[in-house]
Amino acid sequence: MKRTEITSIQQLRKALSKEAGHAGYSAIVDSINIPVKEIEPYQHWNGSHHTRVSLFDSEPIEAVLTCWEPGQSSAIHNYDFKQGWVLILQGQLYLELYHLKNDRPVEVSEIALRDKGVFYLNDGMGFHRFSNNSPHRSLALFLYASKVKRWTTFNVKTGSFDTVETRYDHRPLF
Ligand SMILES: [Fe+2]
Repeated sequence: MKRTEITSIQQLRKALSKEAGHAGYSAIVDSINIPVKEIEPYQHWNGSHHTRVSLFDSEPIEAVLTCWEPGQSSAIHNYDFKQGWVLILQGQLYLELYHLKNDRPVEVSEIALRDKGVFYLNDGMGFHRFSNNSPHRSLALFLYASKVKRWTTFNVKTGSFDTVETRYDHRPLF
């Protein structure tokens, strides 16, 4: 039986609060069809870096809306999440994957994630970086199971690895 489409943030929050486990979350991801207009009230923009907006925050599952101005990118980073999904809600993101070589991340591949695309993030992904290389704003929804509390970033200038606590730029009231 096909699950009813999820077309709003409220429906997404309700679904996430009821489901558990890979199959349940995966089914939710497959049924998400949220129009950009619905996401407008939750968008949060910053001219100097991409933003993370908390849409659902629990230990087993976390939903984060990310907002990317043209040219913005994340740090090269890694985390020991169990699994996750990224859905492109508007625009596109580039995902660069890195392998460690002599204690430095070396890019091994690059994937363009486009409008409405879904990408599954797994344990073996390792170091990676998301960038909005397009001339338009991009919006992407990340689901992490379980919640990501810290990650390791690679500082390109100093060559050092740093453990960074994750942060939200905005936490809407529900
Ligand atoms: Fe990431």
